[in-house]
Amino acid sequence: MDAVNDAANDTAGSDGAGGGSLRNHEGPAPEREPSRLYPRVTSFRSRRGALTATQQQSWERMWPRIGREVSDEPLDAAAWFGRTAPLIIEIGCGTGTATAAMAQAEPQFDLIGIEVYKPGLAQLVQRIEREGIENIRLLRGDAVDVLEHMIAKDSLAGVRVFFPDPWPKARHHKRRLLQPATMTLIASRLQRGGILHVATDHAGYAEHIAAVGAGEPQLVGLNEATGGDAEHPGAETVIGLERPVTKFESKAHRAGSAITEFIWGKI
Ligand SMILES: C[S@@+](CC[C@H](N)C(=O)[O-])C[C@H]1O[C@@H](n2cnc3c(N)ncnc32)[C@H](O)[C@@H]1O
Repeated sequence: MDAVNDAANDTAGSDGAGGGSLRNHEGPAPEREPSRLYPRVTSFRSRRGALTATQQQSWERMWPRIGREVSDEPLDAAAWFGRTAPLIIEIGCGTGTATAAMAQAEPQFDLIGIEVYKPGLAQLVQRIEREGIENIRLLRGDAVDVLEHMIAKDSLAGVRVFFPDPWPKARHHKRRLLQPATMTLIASRLQRGGILHVATDHAGYAEHIAAVGAGEPQLVGLNEATGGDAEHPGAETVIGLERPVTKFESKAHRAGSAITEFIWGKI
């Protein structure tokens, strides 16, 4: 991870956080490229990777229907899914192990996985096609852009953030996704009773996340790690909290890292 973070630091430049901005830009923001996959990365690092031939074929068959690039257009989820159902967003879905399993376990919900890494998305696209999963859509790009521009306030039944990149070095902490501003943004998109579910295997990031969540007035803790109890009086829609173990998480288990799970509810 260190080598990766060093590479990310080279891409991002040195310290110089973006003040009140949700993003930590270096200097003035460059003009946006249509794809939104601009190189000034934030909580994610630039990673290239080619799709296999079968992934590419599956992508071409499926993406026009189930995938979109992040844009400024407010999202009409009912039109995209072809039905009205409570909506859950997963930020940084990686290869989509949790996304697919949770979508299959809760067909009554619609799930949107957001990820910048195309080969990860491609694995999920293949699984969606192979297993005929109907209640997943995918957005490729920065989840902060999605939340800011595409998702209406008070609209989500849940937001999931499983194993966000911990950026362990102090000089990289500003790149962590879960900062006060993003926590406020996420909370603002949840409907009353909506759930924010976060998991991390990094002890330092866990402490940071706990403090940031405790400071967010729109959220109330619902489990031990968030200093609350399981009953949330505002809950109208109860989303599933059972996660399958992802490849990433298995590595953490093998390394002996403890997993911290956070559950908050929107007041
Ligand atoms: C450590 S991986 C975990 C992946 C997956 N959740 C799992 O448990 O296996 C973190 C993922 O978040 C993605 N990511 C980080 N920041 C993001 C952002 N702002 N928008 C979308 N994806 C992001 C990265 O590309 C990476 O795939």
